[in-house]
Amino acid sequence: MKRVAILISGGGSNMIALARSMEGDHPARPVLVLSNDPAAPGLDRAAALGIPVAAVDHRPFKGDRAAFEAALVKKLDAAAPDVICLAGFMRILTAGFTGRYAGRMLNIHPSLLPKYPGLQTHQRALDAGDAEAGCTVHEVTSVLDDGPILGQARVPILPGDDAESLAARVLVQEHALYPAVLRRYVSGDRTPVLL
Ligand code: GRF
Repeated sequence: MKRVAILISGGGSNMIALARSMEGDHPARPVLVLSNDPAAPGLDRAAALGIPVAAVDHRPFKGDRAAFEAALVKKLDAAAPDVICLAGFMRILTAGFTGRYAGRMLNIHPSLLPKYPGLQTHQRALDAGDAEAGCTVHEVTSVLDDGPILGQARVPILPGDDAESLAARVLVQEHALYPAVLRRYVSGDRTPVLL
């Protein structure tokens, strides 16, 4: 049984989708939901599903990323994860952290990478006049929102869309894509999932 740790910063809707996908006949189980915000609503949602939770507040570390990450590592390694899923995790990780978990850490990003790494992805797609948008699951490397693509889902950009309506349409696909990628990934299959 593969052990999956999920890192969140907020509501955790992707974490919920992943956790629910692992109920029943699945080669993996969630063993920890960890947040950089002790008040992240996703922590209560994970606890309600019976998943162990923890938080390391990044604010006391005042920008000392290495010290913050050392505290994360302590919590993470206590759970002995085989795979780590970043899911709405909004802290930038150093090469030390990404290197420690290289080859077993995934992230979901709300754009069709390599387009629009970073923030405000939906507004940037709208401003560019793109016909479609979407989300990407990729292996995490030391380069932000880069790394081998493990899955993508595409949605149309419709007349009258704003960043909010587009984000909502993409989020529905995120909740389908991430569980599909995780299932393949824990089975050792790296064939990209294209929805
Ligand atoms: C989602 O748009 C996800 O793509 C991004 O964070 C947003 C919120 O995710 N990484 P969640 O609801 O906290 O999973």
